[in-house]
Amino acid sequence: MTHDPTHPPQPRLTLRSSESGAAVTDTVWAQVGGTETFDRLVRAFYREVRRDPVLAPMYPDADWEGAIWRLRTFFEQYWGGPATYSEQRGHPRLRMRHAPFPVTPKAKEHWLRHMHAALDEIALPPMHDAAFRDYIERAALAMVNRFE
Ligand code: HEM
Repeated sequence: MTHDPTHPPQPRLTLRSSESGAAVTDTVWAQVGGTETFDRLVRAFYREVRRDPVLAPMYPDADWEGAIWRLRTFFEQYWGGPATYSEQRGHPRLRMRHAPFPVTPKAKEHWLRHMHAALDEIALPPMHDAAFRDYIERAALAMVNRFE
């Protein structure tokens, strides 16, 4: 194959930038495996939530696929993936969205236990695993809205 010397071949991919800004490979979302990984995480999480005596009653309409979709797309967006969550649901305002639900310290402990177990299951690389666990601990603490 010959190349026109006035138009030297360009590298097809750089890790730092692309025409549309940051390259997708720069995001945590891409580094951990994209949508497939987030789907496995959230499905493992809800598999346990739906049989948890404290948490399950908070999901009265049993719209589990909807709940999986909302949490997956939110996490994907947070970690640099597609902004599908906000395109469909608007600004997250998570504390406000949790206000109708009794997020007690006990509920928080149950939620975190299932999320840590789901992270055990998907076994991310150590740096990413630590970042996810740090994030969920802080986010869950911020969500507590009832003290009994
Ligand atoms: C601390 C304990 C928590 C409890 C008991 C809890 C419970 C719930 C419940 C009952 C819902 C409604 C079901 C639904 O619409 O999907 C919900 C929604 C949601 N939760 Fe949590 N949650 C907790 C923590 C968190 C944390 C830490 C995050 C994020 C880091 C989070 C993210 C979400 C999202 C994105 C939704 C969907 C919001 C929407 O678009 O309507 N939750 N949660």
